[in-house]
Amino acid sequence: MRKKRYFSISADLLQGGKPSAIDLYVNSSTVQGRDEFVKIHHRFKELSQIEINTYVLKYHQLYVLESQRKLYLREVFGREDLKDAKKTEIMKNVAIDHLKLIFNSQNEKEGENLFENDVMSCRDSVLEMIEFIENKSLRQMQKVLGEVYTHDSYTYDHSVNVAFYSIIFLKFYRPHSSKEELLTIGLSGLLHDLGKRKISTTILNNPGQLSDEQFNQIKKHPEYGEQLMGACSCSGISSKMQRAITKVILEHHENVNGTGYPSGLKGDEISLYSKMVAITDFFDAITSYRSYHEPLSYESALVLMENSVGKKIDKKLFDNFKDCVGGVITKGNTFLELPDDFDPCQPTNVLPFKKREPKYIKKDINQNRKVKKAA
Ligand SMILES: [Fe+2]
Ligand SMILES: [Fe+2]
Repeated sequence: MRKKRYFSISADLLQGGKPSAIDLYVNSSTVQGRDEFVKIHHRFKELSQIEINTYVLKYHQLYVLESQRKLYLREVFGREDLKDAKKTEIMKNVAIDHLKLIFNSQNEKEGENLFENDVMSCRDSVLEMIEFIENKSLRQMQKVLGEVYTHDSYTYDHSVNVAFYSIIFLKFYRPHSSKEELLTIGLSGLLHDLGKRKISTTILNNPGQLSDEQFNQIKKHPEYGEQLMGACSCSGISSKMQRAITKVILEHHENVNGTGYPSGLKGDEISLYSKMVAITDFFDAITSYRSYHEPLSYESALVLMENSVGKKIDKKLFDNFKDCVGGVITKGNTFLELPDDFDPCQPTNVLPFKKREPKYIKKDINQNRKVKKAA
């Protein structure tokens, strides 16, 4: 029999004076690593504010069955008294919980295989994201994600943001995208760094300079991810969807000028979704605050990204992305750019800016030299 799964919730998010949509549990085990969940409240039974206050005082944490997660989220997202930032935080934590399952599942199971249930959990999470995003703009989402603080590793935090942005970007680029297409790009964003499951967390969470050997290890993650996703017997998603997601996992570090890895693909050799995720990946890396580097404003980020057009990112798609984020951008330092090998999937202490000399300045200098020689 399959073991029941639970997730934790905050007791102060419960609403008193009405029947509860979910069963509530506490973990009564005193032995670390051995959980024993006991039901303390039955769904459909009225939950009073006094009971909630008691739970808050008495129990460190309340738990809900994984199978009732949708009911819980529906209730929370339907509440008008909760701010968007709070709802986003809940949504993001749900997605991170699912990512943790997929990244840590090899510890519980034999081998390194990716299992159907791992992907199903992430699929559910992306479906919830699609519903949650509704008509939210990318700017609204970026603002609200900036207010959400999570304690989790860079990979999880970043992957969830990339999923949110990629869904919104595709909705903007192709307004009539089907739910299956939105699910495909959302899952691609959420799982783009899946291959990092095979890389040591000390390397992954190191925001400093990596050694060549460490960087070479990191560079293997697209291929590791492709192997995991490609070999999964995921009945919860179509084979077409699985192929598209696997491509993004493999290609998200390819640059349109052919300087990326693992294959040095160029332009249209790279799939559309891979190029879109490369843009949202870049955008999140430089606009999110994660206690490493200071985030850039969205205007500065877009100006900086503009300087990587034709190198790291595709021009037509980026023009579209700029419109998606907020139209004409005039602020920002046009003399800075990030190197073609900048890795948005890694935490960074300091963004590795390099100065970009505009062509007309070089021309002026050469002209001055000619004038001096002639003199
Ligand atoms: Fe990556
Ligand atoms: Fe990334």
